[in-house]
Amino acid sequence: MRTEFKRAVLPRDLRALVAFDHRVFPQPDWFPAEAWSEYESFWLIVERRRIGCCTFGEHIDFQHDLRGIDPRLRGTLYVASTGILPAFRGAGFGHLLKAWQVAYARHGGFSRVVTNTRKSNRAMIALNKTFGFRAIRTTPHYYMDPDEPTVVMELLLR
Ligand SMILES: CC(C)(COP(=O)(O)OP(=O)(O)OC[C@H]1O[C@@H](n2cnc3c(N)ncnc32)[C@H](O)[C@@H]1OP(=O)(O)O)[C@@H](O)C(=O)NCCC(=O)NCCS
Repeated sequence: MRTEFKRAVLPRDLRALVAFDHRVFPQPDWFPAEAWSEYESFWLIVERRRIGCCTFGEHIDFQHDLRGIDPRLRGTLYVASTGILPAFRGAGFGHLLKAWQVAYARHGGFSRVVTNTRKSNRAMIALNKTFGFRAIRTTPHYYMDPDEPTVVMELLLR
């Protein structure tokens, strides 16, 4: 099985990133189109098909739930999005993508990884825990349609 991780190139990949985001997440959780340029995105490509994608904010902390902004924080990798196309879920690709994210953080010298998800997202929370992430706070009313808290998780690397 030919598998690779590849950096998305903007603006060339913008339409593909937006389309992927729309296939993976419900509409209220879509990334605003203008936000893609603030992040680095990577494709998980299997047999030449883009089946997964993740989006990083390098040296960024997630504090949008507290302050409405995500400030710069040296050494922190913010994983803003992790997704596998529905048809490819349950086969271990989410695990593979999460393992690669942690390897990316270690290789890049980051000391901390932070991420957040809906409180009801048991799959993502379980996956994060498998890799040693722990929940650091739960902020109510972060998401809309449905109204739901966000669970913020971190992994300390050293
Ligand atoms: C979360 C997501 C990336 C997992 O991808 P996946 O390819 O299905 O993941 P895997 O097959 O590697 O499974 C990984 C783990 O998820 C967990 N999991 C999967 N479905 C689950 C469910 N319904 N309930 C609880 N845990 C679940 C399990 O812990 C599983 O580990 P296991 O194999 O030891 O049981 C995928 O469901 C997805 O893209 N969801 C939509 C996007 C999203 O919500 N992203 C998170 C917010 S950024």
